[in-house]
Amino acid sequence: MAHDDHNHSEDLPREGVVFAPGGAPGQSAYMLTFGCQMNVLDSELAMATLAESGLGATDAPEQAEVILVNTCSVRDKAEQKAYSFLGRMKRLKRANPNVVIGVLGCMAQKEGELIFKRAPYVDIVAGTRHFTRIDEYVRRVREGRQRILALGRDDEVVSAKRYRLRDSRHSLQVAVMRGCDHHCTFCVVPNTRGIEQSKPFDEVVKECEILVGAGAREITLLGQNIDSYGKRLLPRRTLAELLHAVSKIPGLDRLRFITSHPADLKPELLEAFREIPNLMPYLHFPAQSGSDRILRAMRRGYSADDYLRLVDQARAACPEIGLAGDTIVGFPTETDTDFERTLELHRRVEYQNAFIFAYSHRAFTPAEKMNLADDIPEDVKSQRVNELIRQQREISARVLKRYEGRVLPVLVDSRVKAVGPSGGGTTFEGRSPQNNIVHFDSGRDLTGEIVSVKITRTTGQALYGQLA
Ligand code: SAM
Ligand code: F3S
Repeated sequence: MAHDDHNHSEDLPREGVVFAPGGAPGQSAYMLTFGCQMNVLDSELAMATLAESGLGATDAPEQAEVILVNTCSVRDKAEQKAYSFLGRMKRLKRANPNVVIGVLGCMAQKEGELIFKRAPYVDIVAGTRHFTRIDEYVRRVREGRQRILALGRDDEVVSAKRYRLRDSRHSLQVAVMRGCDHHCTFCVVPNTRGIEQSKPFDEVVKECEILVGAGAREITLLGQNIDSYGKRLLPRRTLAELLHAVSKIPGLDRLRFITSHPADLKPELLEAFREIPNLMPYLHFPAQSGSDRILRAMRRGYSADDYLRLVDQARAACPEIGLAGDTIVGFPTETDTDFERTLELHRRVEYQNAFIFAYSHRAFTPAEKMNLADDIPEDVKSQRVNELIRQQREISARVLKRYEGRVLPVLVDSRVKAVGPSGGGTTFEGRSPQNNIVHFDSGRDLTGEIVSVKITRTTGQALYGQLA
């Protein structure tokens, strides 16, 4: 999946996921996804609803009857790419006016009608709570040639009714909540996805049971701020309770959850790593900055010391834990000293991987409302991004090197085309408990199995080994 690829550079891990090859020519839909794992999952749900109405998936837009783009708004780049993609789709619409073109997700929510103005050949603009209605919208466009603008957000935490249709794969995501109640000054998500809404506890457990019954061995629970899962449920529930309940599903080998917020992460949750044997030792735990002054300006609700204390507590509860972070560089007023604190935080934490972003000034964020000037020149931002990436590469290389010589259980994702580390056999790619990518060769298709791999070599990006 896109979001969690082991990568330190801006944007790379989260862009351009095409869902999904296959499907009948002439009756198929194409979906381009930019953004986080939640977006990838949303695309999957939308494609599942279309499959129900007889539209298969294609990876070629020229062959599709329905062309969709689901785009993140967090940074400007993704939106630009979405508009440029739409620009290319105009030709297809001209050649075949029956093609239905839709924009979904965060960008649709944020831009609304503006999309129709900028790209008048678009038929559907549907926001973040409409993914499972796409079939209905497509049908309405086809019947009446009318445009659909769907931005309401009162309903649909998610789509329990659709999960049966999802691809049966061995590693699946389940969205347990939507939206975010924080007000990080840089972030558009509370605007695009609305306030936090948790999916009912029993519904999550039931969905996970069905997915495990259909062959999933690993489930990742998703939420923008997953630590506050259950806040508005009656009776009130916690993420720790949910992890305990889901972990007990017979046949589930691996459980994960993302993303944690340092202001909401409870020590009780860290205990779950000690208590739940199939909870994988991985915490995606964005700090965003190492400078207290910038953290305050970002309204993150913790200091660098608070963050480091939690890191220590996480390591005490689970010495094996792999930590991943998100960091924004070039936030308004960031000085060299602030940036130095961020470099220092990365050194102290020793992230196994970190997503590093240049600050992107966005409409509809608190920063915009506060008239916070985007005052760090782009060349300074990119210089700082590059410096942090360079340092993080060294840290990742050091952290991953510790696995050399060890035997790790690896859940095999897929076959990859690259030549194997030993130069022979087929190379497979899988994930270690810490969610690191592991490559190894095998003569037999091991997709979906958990195998023991002895790690012989590492880079800052991945582990390489042999079947043990
Ligand atoms: N809690 C969320 C998560 O990781 O799922 C955060 C949402 S956001 C989709 C993911 C990351 O994008 C954030 O952690 C932050 O580092 C980055 N980000 C958000 N707004 C940004 C902005 N305006 N400029 C640059 N990066 C941004
Ligand atoms: Fe965005 Fe902060 Fe929520 S980064 S998703 S407002 S926790």
